[in-house]
Amino acid sequence: MSQFSITVNGEAVELSVDGNTPLLWVLREQLRLLGTKFGCGMGLCGACTVHLDGSPIRSCSFPIQAAQGRQITTIEGLSDGDDLHPLQSSWLEFNVPQCGYCQSGQLMSAAALLANNPQPSDQEIDEAMSGNICRCGTYPRIRAAIRHTAD
Ligand code: FES
Repeated sequence: MSQFSITVNGEAVELSVDGNTPLLWVLREQLRLLGTKFGCGMGLCGACTVHLDGSPIRSCSFPIQAAQGRQITTIEGLSDGDDLHPLQSSWLEFNVPQCGYCQSGQLMSAAALLANNPQPSDQEIDEAMSGNICRCGTYPRIRAAIRHTAD
């Protein structure tokens, strides 16, 4: 066990955990932030996407020791209290989710995209979202919701 200090959704967190523990399990098991999902566990599907200092990462394959001193944002921190992130409002407007399982990861990737590139082209949207898999095939609605938010 080692000691780590991270900031999660603006709150300082002290942890005693094996440094190789994936960030995903710290978020879900220790901090009970259950919006971040486990899909493949191998960095391939994007269900576990969170932000590390504003950039999207796969928390299933990101050891907690690499997060020492860094800022983590999860889907629970994407809204500002009761004020939804504009992407979340678009997700609702466009009825994006089907089963919903992958959608927190989709939203985190989309939020990182728009934070860095507020007016992405369709190609840039597709490139930024290509690592987030949706078995229900909600891709057209995801693109539409991102496009709507960016307009
Ligand atoms: Fe992390 Fe699939 S669960 S990328």
